[in-house]
Amino acid sequence: MDNFIIRGGRPLSGQTMISGSKNAALPILAATLLTKEKCEIKNVPELMDIKSTFELLNYLGKNCFYGYGNFVAEEHGALKLHAPYDLVRKMRASMLVSGPLLARFKKARFSLPGGCSIGMRPIDIHLEGFKKLGAQVSYEKGDVILTAKKLKPGTVKFRFPSVGATENLMMCAALIEGVTTLENCAREPEIEDLAAALTKMGAPVEGAGTPTIKIHGAAALKGLKYSVMPDRIETGTFMLLAAAAGGKIKLLNAAPRNLDALIRCMKKAGVKITAYKDSIEVEAVRGRPKPVSVSTKPHPGFPTDLQAPWMAFMARAAGVSEVHEHIFENRFMHAPELVRMGADITVTDKKAVVRGVAELLGAPVMASDLRAGAALVVAAAAARGRTVIRRIYHIDRGYEKLEHKLKDLGVDATRVKA
Ligand code: UD1
Repeated sequence: MDNFIIRGGRPLSGQTMISGSKNAALPILAATLLTKEKCEIKNVPELMDIKSTFELLNYLGKNCFYGYGNFVAEEHGALKLHAPYDLVRKMRASMLVSGPLLARFKKARFSLPGGCSIGMRPIDIHLEGFKKLGAQVSYEKGDVILTAKKLKPGTVKFRFPSVGATENLMMCAALIEGVTTLENCAREPEIEDLAAALTKMGAPVEGAGTPTIKIHGAAALKGLKYSVMPDRIETGTFMLLAAAAGGKIKLLNAAPRNLDALIRCMKKAGVKITAYKDSIEVEAVRGRPKPVSVSTKPHPGFPTDLQAPWMAFMARAAGVSEVHEHIFENRFMHAPELVRMGADITVTDKKAVVRGVAELLGAPVMASDLRAGAALVVAAAAARGRTVIRRIYHIDRGYEKLEHKLKDLGVDATRVKA
């Protein structure tokens, strides 16, 4: 297991490249199961979650190549229809293969993903959607089995705008001839990226990015050549890193238009932000930022995936702010670790009260999940002294070449074997 050692407290400067979006790449890779034809996906970040998807697709019988940001999937024989526990347990997004397999083979079996450290994360919204399109759902030995004699286009209204359920149902509907309407959909930008990919494969999608999505499904889909959008969560994390540590940085190959809520809140805190079409400059406040409270909401609200890094930024604000988490029930595990670094944070249920302190101090800390780990990196860059972050395999799930990019921005960061 690797650790990060970060010596913080120095203002940042420099520029770095933003990678392709993990959360957009995962469903697009799953969508390659919708066709026999060759698919070539570019700007795919080299991350553990992508590697897990690569292993799963190969296990299912796709012939995949993956390296240097390129992903190629071909098909030379029959596919398996079962995503087993060992692969699904590593990554919940594995269940995104169920929509494409159900649509194409009228059968899919996958291990029930179970909870994870940030919450219960049930899959009822996905299953209700599949049922509405004609699937039967049964359970056996911890697996969910989806079957259908025939799937029919229809209207599915989600009880909550789940990102994964919106994507899974869009992929399923893409191979059902006729128009399927999805209502109360997630509006995250990654949904628009998947919609563009499905449209290119021959299933035109209208309304992605709005609550109502219409998918014009086809009996067969074509191969795909596609380049994944930039990662908005990686971009936001680096923006908060610079805002917390001080200095001025530029992020290239970014898409600032997808970060309106974060940019608004950072500006309120006094951070200077200049957004261009595909890059963004961030200049930290001299002294301490103003306190700004945030509440996480589905897009276009403040993203839950940036809540932890935001809290690390607010830890040094000149006053008291609140962080409300409305998406996941257990997403404050970074708070006690930040307290170990000198932050003053109290958590009650869905609310954290952050009383800004003048200085954070380096300490040994532990990442409990991906974005909690990102928060510790932000805090470590801002803290005086040396921070050792353990369990960084969580961070490796979502941040490509992190130590190299930190160095690009002037952070003294090293990866060491524990
Ligand atoms: C995706 C993102 C994740 C992000 C999250 C919310 C990927 C790979 N992951 O996760 O980074 O934090 O969106 O923006 O894109 N829920 C149910 N029943 C369901 C499905 C979801 O109750 O069937 C609940 C979840 O437990 C959670 C909330 O809905 O509390 C949001 O989940 P969802 O939007 O589905 O997130 P994911 O797609 O898992």
